Amino acid sequence: MKAVVVEKYDLIDNIPLKEVPLPEVPAGQVRVRIQAASVGFVDGLKVQGLYQTKDALPFTPGTEFAGVVDALAADVQGFARGVPVMGIARSGGLAEYISVPAAALEVMPEGIAPEVAASFRANYLTSLYALSERGALRAGEYLLVLGAAGGVGTAAVQIGKLLGARVIAAASTEEKREFASRHGAEATVDYTRADWRNTLKVLTDGHGADVIFDPVGGEVSLQAFRSIAWNGRHLVIGFAAGSIPALPFNLPLLKGGALLGVDLAQIPRREPEAQKRVMSQLFTWLKERKLEPVVGKIFAFEDFRDAFRTMQSRSALGKMVVRIS
Ligand SMILES: NC(=O)c1ccc[n+]([C@@H]2O[C@H](COP(=O)([O-])OP(=O)(O)OC[C@H]3O[C@@H](n4cnc5c(N)ncnc54)[C@H](OP(=O)(O)O)[C@@H]3O)[C@@H](O)[C@H]2O)c1
Repeated sequence: MKAVVVEKYDLIDNIPLKEVPLPEVPAGQVRVRIQAASVGFVDGLKVQGLYQTKDALPFTPGTEFAGVVDALAADVQGFARGVPVMGIARSGGLAEYISVPAAALEVMPEGIAPEVAASFRANYLTSLYALSERGALRAGEYLLVLGAAGGVGTAAVQIGKLLGARVIAAASTEEKREFASRHGAEATVDYTRADWRNTLKVLTDGHGADVIFDPVGGEVSLQAFRSIAWNGRHLVIGFAAGSIPALPFNLPLLKGGALLGVDLAQIPRREPEAQKRVMSQLFTWLKERKLEPVVGKIFAFEDFRDAFRTMQSRSALGKMVVRIS
């Protein structure tokens, strides 16, 4: 089978597509024929060995995928050959086949394209968990989404709107702000402008943001926290801007605001019930067509490097997806 193989941590330009053996199907595992896989910010870091945890070499990048069950171990229940599934793994998504524990898979709701399923789980689970379970976002509250046209930002805009919040999307270009508006933002702000906090103040009638969804980090996070509403919740999602901000402790005191961390990887272990609740809500919205997950751009398998380049050059709108078969 074909797979993207990282033999040494390097720029995506130097990472090859190779012929490798089909994965075995050990006990408890399911082999999936992958139809589509998505590329997120973390994948870009992992390829270069820049992520906080390094994958042992060689490895195949790609943590989210969708496809059909190709084979399953005798002890696996709940799946059958040919069933469409979506899955999540530490690595291995950018390949024609992957073997994963059955628990890493969900049966795909009917009518969901593999490209949509491949770009769905991590970003929408993170966003709904962050906004509802951690941020306790209520209808009518102001939600400020930073990096609002990125993969996880777009999901937060859509989910914020579904939860009844007044969504304000912060993004760096007009094209990105329009994209966020199309997906549910009621107002937008250019957070690259020095005076963007004044705009936010006007947009919220002087109230500030009740909840801040922050996958960006750096200086903009500190500025955003300074614009938090009384009893506001600032959700720490990631650091796409490349630097981890340090918040002076007097700010939460003066603002009456809270800083709350969100880590998708720890939800299943630490809060399995919350994960079930959130996934069940997401699937309900999917089935009811209330939630239409956004696929930013689809690339052919041999063009996988372009998917990474688009994301790494800060020009991606939504999530980048690679069609495998
Ligand atoms: N905590 C969790 O469980 C969790 C889950 C999912 C993702 N994340 C994290 O969230 C972050 C975003 O992930 P993503 O997949 O949504 O990434 P993405 O699609 O690339 O979006 C990131 C956004 O950040 C903004 N940005 C600001 N400065 C940037 C820079 N120097 N380089 C690149 N982007 C920059 C960009 O928006 P503008 O151009 O508008 O500024 C971009 O749209 C990552 O740090 C990721 O690890 C965390």
